[in-house]
Amino acid sequence: MSDSEIKKGLAGVVVDQTAISKVNPETNSLLYRGYPVQELAARASFEEVAWLLWHGELPSADELAELVSFERANRALTPQVKAAIDLLPTDCHPMDVGRTAVSVIGAGHPRAEDSSPEAELEKAKHLWAQFPAVVAYDQRRRRGLDPVEPRDDLDYSENFLWMSFGEQAHPAVVDAFRVSMVLYAEHSFNASTFTARVITSTLADLHSAVTGAIGALKGPLHGGANEAVMHTFAEIGIRDGEPADQALERARTWMEQALAEKRKVMGFGHRVYKNGDSRVPTMKAALDRMVEHYGRDDLMGLYDGLEQAMEHAKQIKPNLDYPAGPTYHLMGFDTAMFTPLFIASRITGWTAHVMEQRAANALIRPLSDYVGPDERHLPQL
Ligand code: COA
Repeated sequence: MSDSEIKKGLAGVVVDQTAISKVNPETNSLLYRGYPVQELAARASFEEVAWLLWHGELPSADELAELVSFERANRALTPQVKAAIDLLPTDCHPMDVGRTAVSVIGAGHPRAEDSSPEAELEKAKHLWAQFPAVVAYDQRRRRGLDPVEPRDDLDYSENFLWMSFGEQAHPAVVDAFRVSMVLYAEHSFNASTFTARVITSTLADLHSAVTGAIGALKGPLHGGANEAVMHTFAEIGIRDGEPADQALERARTWMEQALAEKRKVMGFGHRVYKNGDSRVPTMKAALDRMVEHYGRDDLMGLYDGLEQAMEHAKQIKPNLDYPAGPTYHLMGFDTAMFTPLFIASRITGWTAHVMEQRAANALIRPLSDYVGPDERHLPQL
């Protein structure tokens, strides 16, 4: 087999069909079940988007009410899940906590081994409802704070922020958080979704598929980039109160130096989009609102400085993680919690793919080109 026949990283390979989302790099567009993600971010609740991804259509009023009531009723973690989280060190990566928690939630689910379409949907909704409490519980225990129990008078985003910080968030903050959840929800055959589909293709259960997907998402070339962006900002130096133009200059200088050293700067570039990530303008607008809300022009200076210097040197555009990182920072989340926030959203897309894969399954098992030693034998005794 020649090198040209090998599609390293499966780049450009179409491995299956999907009706869940369409990424069009030519037009920089992303459709969830046909709807532009920008329209959904402007007008739909995250609960509606979750339903859309699972069912293929937006919910009726009754269907939405049913989903909302299910989600609110399934928010609280069981003592077993809390105990499992408590067993993990507070200095382990929060993605390890997320991965473990999904496994424990799965093992305790009464329909764990039932992969009928109806059970699968119920498990998907249940896991989606549970995960915010995992993130909030973990962040609070790391901060030495008591957990905050969910409130069923709040919507998904309001309650997420409530459990995380123990106070009701400002509507502008809730809205920016909702936008991030909508934008992170689904993105076709990215590495973690493909992982979930590979696991499902063996006829393993939904929680195994999501656990594996979380492992794939942890890497900085994928979901881990949103926290890596904040590490970059920290390396440059975050100075609350610094005028934006000064921060901008420091960021430009830093980027020029980083590129001269041939460093990869997280939050820039994309395997599919080469002319800009379709989700960035919407997330950047949400970041702008947060910068104004919190009065943090210094962060916008850093943001613009890195973006401008990267554009000037390499014409590489930011991806969704670039505006998402500082948005979550402003909201008060610890940097290491950013990728678990991504999980909370992407559980919807992953589980929609698990169900789609299962409905028309073929074991995913590619071939490899062997380049090791020719056949040889142990020495004669
Ligand atoms: N910083 C600096 N240079 C970058 C870059 C970045 N973030 N992203 C790509 N490049 C450069 C590469 O160094 C390479 O340059 P070269 O041809 O001079 O060697 C060129 O652009 C092509 O990059 P490549 O890594 O081959 O593209 P890819 O399609 O395989 O990679 C990513 C896509 C996402 C893995 C890559 O852009 C990246 O590592 N980005 C940072 C991580 C990140 O933000 N991930 C989140 C994705 S949503």
